[in-house]
Amino acid sequence: MAEADPMDMVAADGAEALKALYPSLRGKRVLVTGGGSGIGAGIVEGFAAQGADVTFFDIAREDSNALVERMKAGKRKACFEYVDLTDIATLQGMIARLIERSGPFDILVNNAANDDRHSIDDITEDYFDNRLNVNLKHMFFCAQAVIPSMRARGRGVIVNLGSISWHLGLNDLTLYQTCKAAIEGLTRSLARDLGPDGIRATCVIPGNVRTPRQLKWYTPEGEAEIVAAQCLKGRLVPDDIAAMVMFLASDDARLITGHSYFVDAGWR
Ligand SMILES: NC(=O)c1ccc[n+]([C@@H]2O[C@H](COP(=O)([O-])OP(=O)(O)OC[C@H]3O[C@@H](n4cnc5c(N)ncnc54)[C@H](O)[C@@H]3O)[C@@H](O)[C@H]2O)c1
Repeated sequence: MAEADPMDMVAADGAEALKALYPSLRGKRVLVTGGGSGIGAGIVEGFAAQGADVTFFDIAREDSNALVERMKAGKRKACFEYVDLTDIATLQGMIARLIERSGPFDILVNNAANDDRHSIDDITEDYFDNRLNVNLKHMFFCAQAVIPSMRARGRGVIVNLGSISWHLGLNDLTLYQTCKAAIEGLTRSLARDLGPDGIRATCVIPGNVRTPRQLKWYTPEGEAEIVAAQCLKGRLVPDDIAAMVMFLASDDARLITGHSYFVDAGWR
């Protein structure tokens, strides 16, 4: 028999942790960006398990369709819309159409990003703009598109995905980390301006989460190094991040806004 991968075992421990059900999430309309794979897919599945009505945007058709099919097999539902988030007019047009067709969104999760490595010397002006477009700009414009209908009802939740990377100061991620630092500032600004309208904005800061894409960057030895640097020795999986997002999106967090929450097993 093939030997069990200990990393899979600690990942499985983590997946078991997602158990809470929030009655306030039932029937809520949720939009998740980059929901086709990785953490976003975990968030989409998390909301569906809560009985929420979930739509996600992505450019990865194959992964996104596979997620929808996998969920169907488990009697869960999510709606996939192909949207390239770097195209602001298209993303805002799509949000407007979805609101017109099915009503306002209660919850927006700004999750999509791209952590391609880059060295300072290789960054051109085009690449700089491209990294800001893929990692930051859409978060503001998705929020801008859902805010008016949230405001009209006096409630709404925006959860942005940050990253531990810039807190640690990792190599070869200058522009990604610049965006991730900005997202914490964006969160505080949205919380201040939108609080009087009953709209909350928070940020979730993942540590290193075992997703298909992360396995591209880390060897088993690299993963073991990360676990060694964590206080807790489990390997983070998307469900661990989704668990925090569910809580922050629920009414249980009704007076929580403007802050960022680490889910990193104590990595430093
Ligand atoms: N995985 C980690 O260890 C980790 C650590 C810290 C922070 N994060 C953050 O968590 C979030 C999710 O990360 P992940 O690891 O699941 O990423 P991922 O790369 O696995 O998934 C991101 C998803 O966004 C989609 N996407 C990318 N560009 C897009 C675009 N232009 N338009 C539409 N969709 C697009 C991708 O197709 C993909 O499905 C990101 O904000 C990331 O920065 C992840």
